[in-house]
Amino acid sequence: HCFTKSDDDGFLRCEGVKVQDVIDSVDKRPFYLYSKPQITRNFDAYHEALIGLRSIIGYAIKANNNLKILEHLRQLGCGAVLVSGNELRLALRAGFDPTKCIFNGNGKLLEDLVLAAKEGVFVNVDSEFDLENIVAAARIAAKKVNVLLRINPDVDPQVHPYVATGNKNSKFGIRNEKLQWFLDEVKAHPDELKLVGAHCHLGSTITKVDIFKDAAVLMVNYIDQIRDQGFEIEYLNIGGGLGIDYYHAGAVLPTPMDLINTVRELVLSRGLTLIIEPGRSLIANTCCFVNRVTGVKTNGTKNFVVIDGSMAELIRPSLYGAYQHIELVSPPLPDAEVSTFDVVGPVCESADFLGKDRELPTPGKGAGLVVHDAGAYCMSMASTYNLKMRPPEYWVEEDGSVKKIRHGETFEDHVRFFEGL
Ligand code: LLP
Repeated sequence: HCFTKSDDDGFLRCEGVKVQDVIDSVDKRPFYLYSKPQITRNFDAYHEALIGLRSIIGYAIKANNNLKILEHLRQLGCGAVLVSGNELRLALRAGFDPTKCIFNGNGKLLEDLVLAAKEGVFVNVDSEFDLENIVAAARIAAKKVNVLLRINPDVDPQVHPYVATGNKNSKFGIRNEKLQWFLDEVKAHPDELKLVGAHCHLGSTITKVDIFKDAAVLMVNYIDQIRDQGFEIEYLNIGGGLGIDYYHAGAVLPTPMDLINTVRELVLSRGLTLIIEPGRSLIANTCCFVNRVTGVKTNGTKNFVVIDGSMAELIRPSLYGAYQHIELVSPPLPDAEVSTFDVVGPVCESADFLGKDRELPTPGKGAGLVVHDAGAYCMSMASTYNLKMRPPEYWVEEDGSVKKIRHGETFEDHVRFFEGL
């Protein structure tokens, strides 16, 4: 793995580079630090798992939309999964092949669908009104749109309710009892729509491959039914990728190979092309969110490590109660006592924590502290609450050099929104 701490000297390294040295060489503010080689390794794990199948790896841009990272994933061979017109524009700017892109979502706007139609990206059909809009977009763009039906298979993904999408209370997708209506509508619009596949997405952070298998069994049955009506279905899209090991406690989680192997025979038996849409498992573990300790305090019952980063830059613990591993980047001071701390930011909210009840050696002022597995749904969900500015991003390249891959937002950037009013 890219971030390692050696027992010899107690320093955290990213691809051999001391994180402390990076802290000492950049602006004094929180930042995201990525390993470029780890992104490649994560991609390779999916690529190797998919050997022997026709496939598209559609990277879910919502997980992390850094342009340099997008360009790197595109060069490796990824397509892209998009949930807004702006994500589509960014994917095009990053050079993604539109025929490897999938536009997905339950509230796609007509103007964005027109762009998707013009560019020739796949579009997922999510509802009756969505189908109407896709037909309208096809007419405006004078292009036939390749569509997949997003079917909600009602499989429990066994994850936090906020990231579960493929069950019967979900706002996403169409239920099987309505399938025939959608098939009839597609048949009624032969100039606008070409039905090429079926899509499902059960949820995010799934760590049991049987769940994917259960859904794939249901999906190929739907595909059989759809084919029986004369449609030439080519694609099975099984949605997002695997969850990752956020706990760093030695658990053995399934790999992309384990995931693909559970669906391989099903896909081959129907002669399908498999689409998979990983976000988290491509990018989460490639990154740490790097902070400095502002100070340590106790209120009598709880101890707090107060850092310069916060829920504004990284909201997953506050929003989902998510666990992300935390550690200090340098060896503790010789007399540092180990205690249990809440690791909190300076934001004016009691929800502003990055970790609760963490055992840490008491850090000194200015000590570097990282939140691990911060590559997915962290920077892309950052806000400017309390006028915290969105942090800069750096990556370590193959030769060990550290490069800035996005500027940090500044106060002047913020003030610019008021210019000319
Ligand atoms: N495809 C679709 C249709 C999706 O809705 C998602 C994620 C993905 C692919 C990518 O899933 P992944 O491979 O990353 O699990 N903000 C939450 C995660 C929300 C995921 C939304 N959909 C979090 O921080 O945990």
